[in-house]
Amino acid sequence: MKLDLLQQHIDTMGQTHQSMIDETIIYVKKMLAHDNTGHDWWHIHRVWQTAVYIARKEKANLLIVQLAALLHDIADWKFNDGDDKASARVAQKWLESIGLEKEIIIHICDIINTVTFKGAGVQSQMKTIEGKIVQDADRLDALGAIGIARAFTYGGYKSMSMHDPNLEPQFHASFEEYKKHKGTTINHFYEKLLLLKDLMNTSTGKKLAETRHQFTQNYLYQFFLEWNIISEDA
Ligand code: ADP
Ligand code: NI
Repeated sequence: MKLDLLQQHIDTMGQTHQSMIDETIIYVKKMLAHDNTGHDWWHIHRVWQTAVYIARKEKANLLIVQLAALLHDIADWKFNDGDDKASARVAQKWLESIGLEKEIIIHICDIINTVTFKGAGVQSQMKTIEGKIVQDADRLDALGAIGIARAFTYGGYKSMSMHDPNLEPQFHASFEEYKKHKGTTINHFYEKLLLLKDLMNTSTGKKLAETRHQFTQNYLYQFFLEWNIISEDA
């Protein structure tokens, strides 16, 4: 009898958690509906789906992975006066409002606070497997064909030059430096995108990053061939 009750409780929590994920999807879609900076709903959708894929392979907690992935860019620092705690604050309020257990909220907000890339010389070490997975999924979306498209979308939004041969890529030793810097989109490839492959946390993430990294490198090769007007069949 006791076991039946326990099972019932677990089933009810499972259903409640699923409906929390469903409500969160609707909330995030609404919040990010008008974003045109590369942080739109479809970025969240891809990160969420990739995170679920990795979490199944790595046997992580799917509730935590999904909610953290869905909420990780809900109020990005780049569009909130450099406030890198804004997303976690908004996420915390939302998760409290839907009645999620406190210790799960703390875990999710900790992931959201740490997940962002903060410069080549700054560590963003994730503490748990769920955090490692969300970070890998987010970083994978900055690589490959989609990552390249997002970088130019962001560069256009910020009125950055596509490329300037007189400007060198910068090594950012602190988050403050990274935040302040306004370089070119091509330099961003060297300041962030090409570094991501070696920063992957999980073996599934590493595998996925390999092809996207290669594609990103091939893209740069072609870019500079064209820039320098070297014949492609030379
Ligand atoms: P994420 O959403 O993966 O955490 P970011 O918030 O750092 O990534 O950036 C969003 C997108 O904009 C990413 O694809 C990233 O590479 C790109 N981006 C960020 N900063 C720059 C920049 N200075 N120049 C060009 N693209 C950038
Ligand atoms: Ni993101």
